[in-house]
Order: sequence, then structure tokens, then C-alpha cells
Amino acid sequence: MNKFENSQLSKEQFGEDFLWGVSTAAFQIEGAHDVDGKGASIWDVFTSQKGKIKNGHHAINACDFYNFYKNDIQLVRDLNIPNFRFSISWSRIMPTGVAPINQAGIDYYNNIIDFLLECNITPWITIYHWDLPHALELKGGWTNRECVKWFSDYTAVCAQYFGDRVTNWMVINEPSVFTGAGYFLGIHAPGKKGITNYLKAMHHVTLSTTAGAKILRNTLPNATIGTTFSCTYIEPETEKQKDIEAAKRVDTLLNRTFIEPILGLGYPQSDLPVLKKLKNYILDDDLEKMAFEFDFIGLQCYTREIVKHSLLTPYIGAELVSAEKRNVTATQMGWEVYPPALYHIIKRFNDYKSIKKIIITENGAAFPDKVTNGKVFDIRRTHFIQDNLEQLLKAKKEGYQVDGYFVWSLTDNFEWAEGYNARFGLVHIDFETQQRTIKQSGLWFRDFLA
Ligand code: NOJ
Repeated sequence: MNKFENSQLSKEQFGEDFLWGVSTAAFQIEGAHDVDGKGASIWDVFTSQKGKIKNGHHAINACDFYNFYKNDIQLVRDLNIPNFRFSISWSRIMPTGVAPINQAGIDYYNNIIDFLLECNITPWITIYHWDLPHALELKGGWTNRECVKWFSDYTAVCAQYFGDRVTNWMVINEPSVFTGAGYFLGIHAPGKKGITNYLKAMHHVTLSTTAGAKILRNTLPNATIGTTFSCTYIEPETEKQKDIEAAKRVDTLLNRTFIEPILGLGYPQSDLPVLKKLKNYILDDDLEKMAFEFDFIGLQCYTREIVKHSLLTPYIGAELVSAEKRNVTATQMGWEVYPPALYHIIKRFNDYKSIKKIIITENGAAFPDKVTNGKVFDIRRTHFIQDNLEQLLKAKKEGYQVDGYFVWSLTDNFEWAEGYNARFGLVHIDFETQQRTIKQSGLWFRDFLA
């Protein structure tokens, strides 16, 4: 049966209050990297260095959302999507990361917010989606504890200028990914490596998450405040004790390390011994400072990983068995297509009883789409979304809490170290001409949401 035509899903099954949306991030779409007073971010610098990004791609223009924002917000409206998630570029509104502010940057985001509201679309702001001002990186970036103060001041500026019209906030996006890739592996900006950089960044980002949330709470008492986490369903390769333990360590690293301190549970040190080294950076009342009652937690789930014991990987003693090696269907990112991951993740995070609401703030897939006769027939993405929604619905029917679903992403965009080849959009972009073409997945989602 061709699911594209025969999907049994209907929006009504998810309930009236269920939130439907689409997610984006400033650096991945805006372009306009140095116009109207914007300062450089770590990603501007990283992408300008040779060999960092596949095919030498950079994001100087990206999707030119800076100029196309009206066009693209109209697309959101045409697709019947009621909620739009975007991030603020810190160095666009505070070019050096600290005062003074750049009024042109504030005006730009004000225009976006106003136009969204005019189109009857609810704005959802992510305060930090990975593009730290370069000037702050020169002072150590997230490895410097001062970052908590810099981030707090920046959050206060966002609240002050946008909080009169924006109710929904996410403080920090996927801390495990940008600290792991950017400060441990060195494959994302700022390209730092090593356990010391990583642990410092981890702790300062965690402190900043709650510091930012508290500022939002104090300045905007009516705001709905969340923060987002990357999560991956983990299974051991075999039933051998060693693999089971390795899987538990990877699960702790990827799914627990960043969320548990903000839920007031502290770092899961006994299940991941390397975290004990954090004691060098934790000050007296930090554990208390890291806890905050978020209104919602954003979960971003794309796949599962299969883990086996390995002595070759320091600190974690585990290895991921790639989708390629397992010979299973994968996306352009090399991620296994495994929709039940979403079901397991929802179930799993429901175990944290202090979580008030769960919103899937990202889910989607990258495939090599092409425009043929003005159309993009992306059947695999359409199925991916449908299958993931079925899994979400299954969890919901079983009584697990899940309150919304945002597709990653509106348009194809700059996929970090992967450049432009990994296409995640409901809308195709020709990066030579900036021509937009709604894909079949977008048309399906539009009809589904109608
Ligand atoms: C997570 C990140 O938040 C987003 O920036 C990225 O493009 C997607 N996942 C896909 O990798």
C-alpha cells in the first residue's frame, strides 16, 4: 500500500491542544553573516577555515532567510503550520556578545515576530542554537565560567525586546551535541578538543540553561519556558553483559547527562564515571543553581544507535555500530531509519515525573531530493514523518505525555559540518538561485494540518 496516498493518520487523533510546528535555527538559514552590524560568531569563523565543512561549503548566504523571511513565513502559513520555531543570533543583536546592543539586529527579529503574528503563526524562540559570538570564544567561550554571566545578560536582552509578543521560549538547543562536537571532538565550532574543554563547557552550559530560564521567569511571568535536548534510543548489540553496560554508558552520556541536573537530580556520575572529573568545576551551590522547573522539555529524536563494548574509545569504553555496518536503511546523515525510537524516547522521558510537558521540538530526515518538472517527490521523508507520527500516537494512546511535534525543518538549510548536501526541508531550496519548491512531504503535511 502506498502510504503517501493512504495514510490513516488524522490531526484529530492527536487532540485539540496538540501543538504542530516547524523548527529552524538562525545560522542554518539566515545568511547575511556580516550585514547591518552583525558580529562574527564561532560558526562564521569555523566555516571560513579550510577543511572543516564538507565540500568547502559555508553559510555566508545559507537560505538568505534574512531577506526571504516574509516569503518563507508565508510558506509556513500556506502549509497550515501554526507554530514557527527560530533562534536568535546572539552576535546579530550583541556583536561582541556583551553590551552594547545592535539596534538593526533587534529590528530584524522584531520584523520576523511581527510578521509571524500578522500571519497568525505563533513564534517560538530558541535563545541559543550554537552560534556563540566569536569575541566571547576569544575569552574561552563555554569553557569560561564567565559565560554564565554573558549568557544571562544576553537572555535578559531577548526577554526585554521580544517578550512583549513572544510567549514560548527555549533556552538552549541540544547542549550534548554542541559541547560534544564543538569542545570534545572538534568537528563543530569552535573546533576545540579534549575532556577538560568538554567537561567545563558541559557544566557552564548547564548552569547557563537554568540561569537563562530564571531570568525569563522573573522578567516574563506569563512566558512558557522550555529547553531542548537531543535524545537517541540506545540498544546493546548483543545480550552480553559488556555490551549492555557499554550501552548504559552511552545512554547516560547522550540521554541523561544534560537533563538530570536541570531536573534537580545532579549529574549521573555513578553510571558514567568520567563525570566525576566535573568536581573540579562544580562550586558549592551549583547543584541547586542548576535545577529549574521548566514548563516543557523539548525532545529532539532522529534515530536509534546500537552500541558495543570497546576498549578503543577512551572515557566511554563503547562504540556505535553504524547503520551501514548493520546494513539497515539510513538517511543522508547515516542515521538508521527507525521510527520506533521516538516511541521509546517518549516513554522513557515520561519516567521523569517532574517533567510537566514534552514537546518533540525536532524530528525529520535528510534525503537527496531533486526537483523534477517543478516537483519534489520525497516519498521517503513523507513516510518518515508519517511513521514517526504513528509512533508518537502509539505512545499517546498508551497514556504517555507528549504535547507537540515540530518538523525539522521548514527548508533545506546549512547542516553544520555536512554543509548543504543533507537536505532536511519540507521545502526544497536551490542554493544557486534561492528558488523554493514545496516538496511532497510539505504538501502532505499541509493537507494533514488543514
Ligand atoms: C539537531 C539540531 O538542533 C539542528 O540544528 C540540526 O540541523 C538537526 N538536529 C539535524 O541534524
